[in-house]
Amino acid sequence: ESAEKGGYEHFMLKEIHEQPNAIKDTLRGRIVNDNEIVLDKVNITKDEIDKIDKIFIVACGTAYHAGVVGKYVIEKFARIPVEVDIASEFRYREPIINEKTLTIVVSQSGETADTIAALKEAKRNGSRVIAITNVVGSSISREADDVIYTWAGPEIAVASTKAYTTQLVALYLIALDLALKKGTIDKEYAKAICDELKQLPDKAKHILDYKDELQEFASNHFNSKDVFYLGRGLDYAVAMEGSLKLKEISYIHSEAYAAGELKHGTLALIEDGTLVIALATQEHLFEKMLSNIREVTTRGGYVLAFAMEGNNQLEGIVEKVLYIPKTMEEVAPIITVIPLQLLAYYMAVEKGCDVDKPRNLAKSVTVE
Ligand code: AGP
Repeated sequence: ESAEKGGYEHFMLKEIHEQPNAIKDTLRGRIVNDNEIVLDKVNITKDEIDKIDKIFIVACGTAYHAGVVGKYVIEKFARIPVEVDIASEFRYREPIINEKTLTIVVSQSGETADTIAALKEAKRNGSRVIAITNVVGSSISREADDVIYTWAGPEIAVASTKAYTTQLVALYLIALDLALKKGTIDKEYAKAICDELKQLPDKAKHILDYKDELQEFASNHFNSKDVFYLGRGLDYAVAMEGSLKLKEISYIHSEAYAAGELKHGTLALIEDGTLVIALATQEHLFEKMLSNIREVTTRGGYVLAFAMEGNNQLEGIVEKVLYIPKTMEEVAPIITVIPLQLLAYYMAVEKGCDVDKPRNLAKSVTVE
């Protein structure tokens, strides 16, 4: 087993480090001529796209969190309403599905029982189903109408890392494909997004350099009882995933909040020393986020913030700021999540938890 870990202490750490290459593999051959998207055998025509009036993204856990990013991105680029559903809820709530609905199911393993059932429910009601999965020949890949593989390679650790980042890449590609065909995105802007996507493997590599700093941070904070993750827009979606990572492997209670929601309840929980992870990579929301961060620091919250390189406004306001390599804010989630994975990892290691096999959890949930 130690050979399989490639010199890393845990599969999770190995898989975190595999992300630059995994992102590259997911992109390979799928962006051609600067801004044309080729999605394997998925070929939705402009006519078919014009008929779609709603998209469902259905998944569980980390894959669901990828779906939340997908919603923001598809709606922004392709201007089609998107609902993101937790698969175990979707199948029992009589969702409104018909031939005009496109359903995207997301599943690393392709074997999650609730996601398979949701896929069947969507098909039964006439929806076309696109699957994003990592496992060739999995049940979900066989049941769906179209499949986009993430090509992340085997993911062994229960906590999903490279599957998430590559699911995001796949969702960005779908969003671009729909938008370009529908004509809702400017070609130059699409090219700029594609260029940024291609640069992400290198930027992801740089982010891994935060390892030592995050390890040290974890060694000082692994005794935290509660951790709050805050963000706005795409940062909120990433906050949800960061929070899940921490919970599942370190057993520290944590919650993710849309930062604007704080004052509607959660702020009551912030007291002297409460650890808050504030994501502030979304430049167009920065001022709003800054005021939410101040709401926390005023009450004694201890803030670790993530900001976009070049924006030093949080220095002196929060305890610590780490910088995400400069990128377009639209694609930032793909790299912002990486230090959050590392943080969860080191918190769990400091606590002496079984990182790769957290208690009570299975890699693939094939029962309801
Ligand atoms: C993530 O770290 C989890 N262990 C879990 O939430 C997982 O993402 C979920 O069970 C869905 O699995 P799937 O992607 O294989 O369908």
